[in-house]
Amino acid sequence: MFQQLLLTMLHIKIYSIGWILGVLLLGLTSCKPPVPPTDLSKENIIPQPISITATGNAFVLTDDSDIFVEGPEELKQIGQYLADKLNPSTRFDMKVASTTGAPKSGNIYLTLSADPQLGEEGYELNITNNLLKLAANKPAGLFRGIQTLRQVFPAKIELSTAQQGPWKIPTGVIRDYPSYAWRGSMLDVARHFFGVEDVKRYIDLISYYKINILHLHLSDDQGWRIEIKSWPNLTKHGGSTQVGGGKGGFYTQEQYADLVAYSQARYITIVPEIDLPGHINSALASYGELNGGTIVPEEGRVALSKPSRDILGAKTKPTELYTGIAVGWSTLRVEKEVTFKFVEDVLRELAALTPGPYLHIGGDEAAATKKKDYITFINRFKDIVKANGKIMVGWEEIAQADINSEVVTQYWHSQKYAQTAVEKESKIIMPPSTKAYIDMSYDSTTKLGLHWAAYIEVDSAYRWNLATHVKGIGRENILGIEAPLWSETITTMDDIEFLAFPRLPGYAEIGWSPENGRAWDEYKVRLGNHGPRLTAMEVNFYRSSKVPWIK
Ligand code: ACM
Repeated sequence: MFQQLLLTMLHIKIYSIGWILGVLLLGLTSCKPPVPPTDLSKENIIPQPISITATGNAFVLTDDSDIFVEGPEELKQIGQYLADKLNPSTRFDMKVASTTGAPKSGNIYLTLSADPQLGEEGYELNITNNLLKLAANKPAGLFRGIQTLRQVFPAKIELSTAQQGPWKIPTGVIRDYPSYAWRGSMLDVARHFFGVEDVKRYIDLISYYKINILHLHLSDDQGWRIEIKSWPNLTKHGGSTQVGGGKGGFYTQEQYADLVAYSQARYITIVPEIDLPGHINSALASYGELNGGTIVPEEGRVALSKPSRDILGAKTKPTELYTGIAVGWSTLRVEKEVTFKFVEDVLRELAALTPGPYLHIGGDEAAATKKKDYITFINRFKDIVKANGKIMVGWEEIAQADINSEVVTQYWHSQKYAQTAVEKESKIIMPPSTKAYIDMSYDSTTKLGLHWAAYIEVDSAYRWNLATHVKGIGRENILGIEAPLWSETITTMDDIEFLAFPRLPGYAEIGWSPENGRAWDEYKVRLGNHGPRLTAMEVNFYRSSKVPWIK
């Protein structure tokens, strides 16, 4: 009897387990899982990749996923960078490990390839339902590919707080590489000084859009921002103020080296600029022997065509520090060799801090320098830069000197100078001030910025092409694009972000993606989808009414 009861109970138990299992199985097959995002080609990636082939399935990142790298030690750092981007919001605590061959299902795999089409910065992202594989010829390509991968995940992946998954992305293959080698932004840390943390944040934000050059404008009339050990008064005195009379500041060489390392880890080359022979008052105030004379400062940004005006004060006497925003009124002194000793010392110390190939010598708006002196200056700067093993970059006015294919010219507003530079076989960087100066206000209601070149709304910033912008200057003459941010009117990181975003992603796309088929009406939808991403990254961006922002 007891045995009978036991058997009946067991039967009921087995039966009920079977029933529960049955219901579960039914549930799994009949109730639909949430619709996965299955079309990789519909993702809103900026810059637009060269090719996307969707395969209609989904990869899911889970608590079991890790990052495996195959290749040199450097790849581990890139893997860690990715883990640091994905871990805070997913709370998956992904680890980075070396591997030989593809890891098992559910993981991320970073590896090197030999794929000539991908070049130095290209990558192939191959997402299947069991592996997320990123391959590139060079570590830089892996880094660029990671930016694409970040943009394929939901926007909340960028938040620093724990978020609810699932972390599901569509499968397919993205093959991608840049059109132009120079995709830069310039930050003017001279007129208003921005500290190391601000510059690092800027580096992080621009790297999200595959920018690969950060041009730092390190000196101007208002301030000298990089420590030069052989001329200490440059920063002690010359770095002590800024536009409006604030306290200014400067980077010690150690801080600057830290910035360089930070940007290197993001595959961004820093191009340091010391603006010579004009825009130099902060040095003339620090060392009177460099003073070649100043003329009456006139407010306004373009002071080039003015005839020489009266010299103020005595040459060789230190000038007063300057906190206004006039341009083109100070000059180095050409007659004395001490000036060239100064330039040699500055460029030597700067070159030693610069792993990248370029030194920028300014050369713009030297309206207080006589033309023949200007040519002497630029020719000598060219030799000094070359002697330091670097490539000289200068603003378009340097086309008046003996430049050649070893020199890079940065166009900003004179087509004539840019054309002359091309005739002299110099390669061109393109930041036309009417299109790519991100210190220009968006419209007449914008509180920040100037508008001497133009008002530049987000659509106008996007609607132009590098290779057709200046007559006679084609793709073969152009190294790439740059978006300079001069800092007359900006004082905080929020200000920087407001003027740079959302124009900067457009410049990044102009430099990276093919011109063929580029259209504002298509781009603005992708940009609108980046609103939540920029919000997640806490970017203070301008919510232009031209863009259909998604919430
Ligand atoms: C410049 O805007 N003076 C290069």
